[in-house]
Amino acid sequence: MNLEYLSGFGNEFASEALPGALPVGQNSPQKAPYGLYTELFSGTAFTMVRSEARRTWLYRIQPSANHPAFIKLERQLAGGPLGEVTPNRLRWNPLDLPSEPTDFIDGLVGMVANSAAQKPSGISVYNYRANRSMERVFFNADGELLIVPEQGRLRIATELGVLEVEPLEIVVLPRGLKFRVELLDAQARGYVAENHGAPLRLPDLGPIGSNGLANPRDFLTPVAHYEDVKKPTTLVQKFLGELWACELDHSPLNVVAWHGNNVPYKYDLRRFNTIGTVSFDHPDPSIFTVLTSPTSTHGLANLDFVIFPPRWMVAENTFRPPWFHRNLMNEYMGLIQGAYDAKAEGFLPGGASLHSCMSAHGPDGETCTKAINVELAPHKIDNTMAFMFETSQVLRPTQFALDCPQLQTTYDACWASLPATFNPNRR
Ligand SMILES: [Fe+2]
Repeated sequence: MNLEYLSGFGNEFASEALPGALPVGQNSPQKAPYGLYTELFSGTAFTMVRSEARRTWLYRIQPSANHPAFIKLERQLAGGPLGEVTPNRLRWNPLDLPSEPTDFIDGLVGMVANSAAQKPSGISVYNYRANRSMERVFFNADGELLIVPEQGRLRIATELGVLEVEPLEIVVLPRGLKFRVELLDAQARGYVAENHGAPLRLPDLGPIGSNGLANPRDFLTPVAHYEDVKKPTTLVQKFLGELWACELDHSPLNVVAWHGNNVPYKYDLRRFNTIGTVSFDHPDPSIFTVLTSPTSTHGLANLDFVIFPPRWMVAENTFRPPWFHRNLMNEYMGLIQGAYDAKAEGFLPGGASLHSCMSAHGPDGETCTKAINVELAPHKIDNTMAFMFETSQVLRPTQFALDCPQLQTTYDACWASLPATFNPNRR
């Protein structure tokens, strides 16, 4: 199948897989075309201001309401409950790929979170590993999902159409959207941020102007595609952190036409228009924000998705790596490919690190020594893509994340080798 996409961000899109399947001029006619049922899929409260409101009208073979009772699954998400709060800096090696048959849901493992599932804010972060396509269909009642593949291409069949993503692309699935993740390669691994707060959107650009960073036209939403299939299908949902399932006699990915702005989308991180200094110093990493979920406090994010893409370093008389810092915000970092410019070693593709509120961090000893002494010339950082899920509330590691053998026990030591350079007699 050749995939088609609709381009733009926040648009009122419309798509139909059969000609004339979308009612014209009204949302809910007495009889929808082709004998379809009409269903409203709301992503925000009805009364949100218009600029915040997200909803999509669906025209489907069976309404979603046609399902038996959900029953709580014995096998719940891996990762377990949250563990002890720690102010320590944590870093993990990549999690092993599974040896048993594992689909995307079984392969999700909770790493850190800062919210109870019923709270309308905060995030939960998972890593995923899979070696099987899902046969069941899933939806998440607890939040929007931002998927960041690190290995393996995914075909994600959703109610609104099909998306294919590969490492260096991301996909965002609205809260409640039904989907099935299929593997296009033998195995897959990556990261997921579950956003319990306001839906992700593009950041404001301020003095940058009307272009730059992630441009709206590079966001791609699938066109309508339906499965008119009568076969037993397990529908799984996550509700307040727990998995529940029911058995359907049809595919729930049966939307023939739709219109609205509560939609899944993908974005190629290689299209990010990276902006930085052309004189000295470097801007705060907020300059690398791809998407943001705001809180009610202006400028304070529930979730910022920030990337560190290939870019030229040209700053004169400047310590070029990320400076040493202590932040209000909490940072869960991952690496999609290459190396991250603040760390000489130990931070691997598929690995992760956690730096919580006011925890001191920055370049390791080796990177720092090099950066102080290097002769500065224009230099391109290439073949790299690190990212950060940054959030305003402290992230607590899960018990799994604290107990797993991938947790590095010597992370603090990477700063122990910082050279003693202070000399009161030499300015
Ligand atoms: Fe940081």
